[in-house]
Amino acid sequence: MPTPLPAPALLRRLDNGPVSADLSAGLRALAKDCGLKLDPDAELAKSWCLFWVAELAPSLPLAGFCLAWAVADEIELISIGTPPQARRQGIARRLMETLIAEGKRSGARAIFLEVRSRNTAALKLYRAFGFTALEERRAYYPDGEDATLMSLNLPPATASPLQP
Ligand SMILES: CC(C)(COP(=O)(O)OP(=O)(O)OC[C@H]1O[C@@H](n2cnc3c(N)ncnc32)[C@H](O)[C@@H]1OP(=O)(O)O)[C@@H](O)C(=O)NCCC(=O)NCCS
Repeated sequence: MPTPLPAPALLRRLDNGPVSADLSAGLRALAKDCGLKLDPDAELAKSWCLFWVAELAPSLPLAGFCLAWAVADEIELISIGTPPQARRQGIARRLMETLIAEGKRSGARAIFLEVRSRNTAALKLYRAFGFTALEERRAYYPDGEDATLMSLNLPPATASPLQP
């Protein structure tokens, strides 16, 4: 019998107030699994925070997250991650689609991000969405790795036609 395809991840937006201590602990564990640092309570306290979490099912561990900051007409993607056991199922793609849709909806001009120059998975993900490199920052990270600064311009929101 063929293996059933995993159900698509459900995305839950969290940046509308504080989260429970259990969820906060789950988010910390998720970020650690992804090899990323995250202080969810500090981030969610920022009025400019955009935050989504991905779940494959309510009973399963969290399957990904995306944190960004919306400042004036720009969005900065701070962190995106999927734990090793949930990778290559399109979860980061869904998170990126959702972030870009929110950027367009809110009238943001562009999304910016910095990524480790050797992070081929993330670079490929970002390029697939049309992000292009703006500049290389030599020895940007504490371990000496370079950073690539990337951006994606968002089209201006189209005005709805005037009613006669
Ligand atoms: C980068 C990362 C977020 C990708 O998450 P993911 O859920 O596995 O990504 P998706 O399944 O949505 O993949 C979407 C596309 O990204 C690219 N991609 C993702 N992982 C890749 C890999 N290991 N190698 C090459 N391309 C990859 C591919 O283009 C992929 O499309 P495809 O599967 O049709 O080829 C995940 O590997 C991760 O959490 N890494 C550790 C944390 C990190 O580096 N975050 C980014 C910097 S903050």
